[in-house]
This record gives sequence, structure tokens and C-alpha cells, in this order.
Amino acid sequence: MDRSDWRQDRWRVKRILQAEQAQGEVFVQGWLRTVRRSKGVVFLALNDGSCLDSLQIVVGEDSPSFQVAGELGTGACIGVRGMLVPSPGEGQNWEVQAGLITVYGATDETFPLQKKRHGFEYLRTIAHLRPRTNAFGAVFRVRSRIAHAVHSFFQERGFVYVQTPIITANDCEGAGEMFRVTTLDPENPPRVDGRIAWHEDFFGSKTGLTVSGQLQGELFATAFTDIYTFGPTFRAENSNTSRHASEFWMIEPEIAFADLAVNCQLAEDFFRFMVSYALEHCRDDLEFFNKFIDNGLIERLEKVAGTAFQSMSYTEAINRLQRSGRSFEFPVAWGCDLQSEHERYLTEQIVGGPLFVTDYPQGIKAFYMRRNDDGKTVAAMDLLVPKVGEIIGGSQREERLDVLQHKMEAFDILPASLEWYLDTRRWGSCPHAGFGLGFERFLMYITGMENVRDVIPFPRTPGNARF
Ligand code: 4AD
Ligand code: MG
Repeated sequence: MDRSDWRQDRWRVKRILQAEQAQGEVFVQGWLRTVRRSKGVVFLALNDGSCLDSLQIVVGEDSPSFQVAGELGTGACIGVRGMLVPSPGEGQNWEVQAGLITVYGATDETFPLQKKRHGFEYLRTIAHLRPRTNAFGAVFRVRSRIAHAVHSFFQERGFVYVQTPIITANDCEGAGEMFRVTTLDPENPPRVDGRIAWHEDFFGSKTGLTVSGQLQGELFATAFTDIYTFGPTFRAENSNTSRHASEFWMIEPEIAFADLAVNCQLAEDFFRFMVSYALEHCRDDLEFFNKFIDNGLIERLEKVAGTAFQSMSYTEAINRLQRSGRSFEFPVAWGCDLQSEHERYLTEQIVGGPLFVTDYPQGIKAFYMRRNDDGKTVAAMDLLVPKVGEIIGGSQREERLDVLQHKMEAFDILPASLEWYLDTRRWGSCPHAGFGLGFERFLMYITGMENVRDVIPFPRTPGNARF
């Protein structure tokens, strides 16, 4: 029988709980979620992270490990050899009657996860232990499966996976939110005419952590046609919201010979593929979220998987917001950036589902977006979804050298720093487009978790990089 384990001598709890018949002797290893003692018997709930449920271990008086089991505490790490038998108790089909128990790591009453439920905020203060809770076990199993789904989607469609650099000299989004990378002496940096001599720094120029792999992705799209990146992204913006992390993961496909409509189609196909994938492959964990975190979750995901997304232009979105009769904290006027309250209102109240907003004013979007024929807007798109707001940002790119150069001038971007990027427009330029999906925002959407800090293993936010 397939034990779903690379180790022949051990069983994973998930496989045991799915067994259709008794398997005789088994060997399991894991961590104790609970220890319950009653007269002449000790019940242990053992979890090995393979699934939400724990395996019940029954240690009777006749077991050679009865005394050892009596001394075990919540959180201890053990191995158990025993017989797998149908469970007479409620809540599980199988249990293990313990023979020999090996204690790898004992614990004591100071182990922080003694209670059944803890607040997420408290658990963030023990990020090294929170994966051993039900909610975070489910979150990080889903995260792992969805990462696999990302690669499946693109690989099955012939996209080339590009690992774009983490250290870079260019600020793709132009928002000046880069973390600096330097080996210069912070106390006494070399100076020329009073200004820091960045050319003496390690890379011979001012460098930082990437805010997006897009520009390098574009270069590869002009060789491989369809590419994607999937990696960490860093932003030093000081926004302490439940949706912003200073380090997050982004998936950025870039496609040659594509306009904005094709770009939106790809984004929708990708998004719906990932939702369907989660419904199919992460069912138990999603049911947990549906029960304890967000009651409407599965119904909402099923609807999204089966319905086409809506789309409206920025101009129409502004009109709809102005006509809504709602008073927003930030006033609505053509030309201003949509705030999260506006985005939420559009996707939650006006549309009631995912919504593409397209063709934004060029002044509020990045320099590389393609200018529309009206001369005022660019071929941009944001995908907004209920509860999360903006989850994807993308555009058709400006492939015309002269227009791009004019825009860079208008945005005060020195051409010298991006000559390599402009070169793609000099030699064999092509229409192309792409977008970025925030991996954590997507996980918030799929799990119903409301804080970005709770869907990334070790969150980095302003003031917090412990663990
Ligand atoms: O809209 P953004 O800034 O777009 C780009 O970076 C483009 N270069 C993408 C492209 O066209 N290739 O970011 C894309 C997405 C956002 O929609 C959001 O989901 C996520 O990345 N994101 C963040 N997620 C968590 N924390 C942050 N601070 C984020 N900033 C953006
Ligand atoms: Mg954006």
C-alpha cells in the first residue's frame, strides 16, 4: 500500500486516517496536541502536520509505555509503534494502541500552546511555534499547495520560469520604496563633494532589494514569449495595514504579443484555476476556514471558480462611486488614486465579486504603462476582490521607444539608469503585457484570514523582523 511517505518505516497521520482497513502494526512520529489521563488509560492526540486532524493514541495499563505516557505533556515530540485498530470512540475511525513509545523531546507546563484556542495576535509573538496550531497548520499547508499550483498553471501553458534578481539597482515601480543594500560604512561613508560616493559601494552603484521583477521579466518575455516570475519582493513603505507586508511574494507573468484584454484574460484564467485547485486539493483545510474563520468562504470560492469576472474603466468606476450617494473618507474625483475604501465598495457593493478596473489616468500609474490614444489614460488594470481589495496590478507595456522616453522624462527617471531596459525597445520591440499577483493577498482571499501577517511564515512589517 502507498504510505504517502518517503520513509518506508513510518506512516503519516493523514494516510492512516484515510485508511480503509486495519493495517496491523504502524509507526508514527509527531507532536502531542493534547494529553488526557483517565483511570488506567492515557489518550494522546498526535499531529505530524500532514493534515488538520490528529491521530488518537491509546496507552493502556498493559502497554510497556504506560508510565512514560503518563508523564508526557502537551507539545512533546514522540514516536509510537502500535496496532492500528478501529476506534470505538467518536470523532475518528482509527486509533493506535500504543506499544513502545520513544520520547524525542519532552516538554513542560511552560509550553505556550496549552489552551485550545489562542488569538492570532498572540500567536504572532510566538511565530516559531504557531505552525503547530490548527489554523496555521492549515494556512501553511494551503500556501504550499497553492505555490505548486502556480507552477502547474504556467508550466502547463508553456511559460518559462525566470528567477529575477533580488538585489537590483532599479526601482521598477518608481515609488522610491526600496530597502538599501550596501557595504559602505554607515558611520563614515566615502564622500565626494559632501555627497555619498555610491560608485564606491560594493556593486559600483546604489542598489537595493527588488520591489518587482517585472522589468527583468520583460527582457525575458522578448526572448521566450511567455514567462513568469515567482519570488520575494520588498517594499520599505511605512504602511501599517492588514494588507501590506515589507517582504511579500509576487507572481509576475509577462506575455509578448498581448494587449490589455489578453492580459486580463490570462489573469482571470489564472485566478480561477488557483481557486478551483484549492477547492479540489485543500478541501479539509478550507472546510476548517469555512467553519472557524469565514462562514461564507467555500460558497464564495465556488461561485468565483464558475463565473466570468466583470470589468469597468476607471472613468466609469469614478462615475459609479460619485453616483453611489456614499460619503467616503477620501473624496472621489477623476484623477485621484482609488483608495481601499473605494476599491472595496466597487467590488463588494457595486459588483459583488471580482472586478477589473482598467485604463487609469497616467499620472497615478507607473512610467512603463502604455499610453492610450486619448493621451490621458494608460492601459492599466487592477483586479479587485471582496474583502481583500486590490489583489492584482498589471498593464500593457509601453513598447514605443519615443513615447517611453518622454514618459520617463515626465516621471523624472534618468534614462542612464535604464538604458538596458530601453534597449528592448530599440531592437525588436513588441507589444507585450503582464501583471503581478500578491501571493499573500491571494492566500488571504482563499483562506479568509484577515491579516497578511497570518499567511506568511515569518512576517516582516515596520518594526518587526524577529524570528
Ligand atoms: O500593483 P503592484 O505594485 O504591481 C507591480 O509591482 C507590477 N510591477 C506588477 C506587474 O505588472 N508585473 O503589485 C502587484 C500586487 C498587488 O496587486 C498586491 O496584490 C501585491 O502585489 N502587493 C503587496 N502585497 C503585500 N504587501 C505589500 N506591501 C504589497 N504591495 C503590493
Ligand atoms: Mg498596484
